Amino acid sequence: MPSTMREMLNESNDCPGLQELLARLDSAVRLKRPEQITRQVKDELCDVLSRMALRLPPGYWRTRTDGYARRLLHHSVELNYSAVVMTWAPGQRTPLHDHGGLWCVEGVVTGEMEVTQFDLIDLVNGGYRFAERGRVRAGVGTAGCLIPPSDYHVLGNALEDRTSITLHVYGGDLTRCHVFVPRGDGRYERHERQLSYHE
Ligand SMILES: [Fe+2]
Repeated sequence: MPSTMREMLNESNDCPGLQELLARLDSAVRLKRPEQITRQVKDELCDVLSRMALRLPPGYWRTRTDGYARRLLHHSVELNYSAVVMTWAPGQRTPLHDHGGLWCVEGVVTGEMEVTQFDLIDLVNGGYRFAERGRVRAGVGTAGCLIPPSDYHVLGNALEDRTSITLHVYGGDLTRCHVFVPRGDGRYERHERQLSYHE
């Protein structure tokens, strides 16, 4: 069974731009430090996505009614990174979350996203207190880096009438993360969430 969607694709016909993107990512993740890797991955994503050189097959455009769709595009065991496509119907967004200790670069393939970043202020008796650091609307060809421990954020489709699609590159296979649930007193409770891929 193919381990990634990539192996199921006839890349030249079904996903133009994928070969080029993966060659660039392979080279970027060979850099040493997370700061260097994420900066380079960000540059590569911005270049490929702003030229609209990556043409995702129709399956990646399908939205889901139960939340945003999360589909694997590529996982490199050898280089320890993964590329995941997320597809957002209008109004869909994540809870406040982190990336379980992995670095990540998130780029916009189509549409527009709202990204809100948070700083952890303190933790008292299991209650996490955050302050909003900034909120941006991100358009096609833009990307942002998230490096733990400063990776608390909320991501959502900024458009009311259109699907948005994002491409996420992680320093590993993101199988679990933490989500933070408001507990009503201005603080959040941390829950571990197991992640899986949609069809
Ligand atoms: Fe995220």
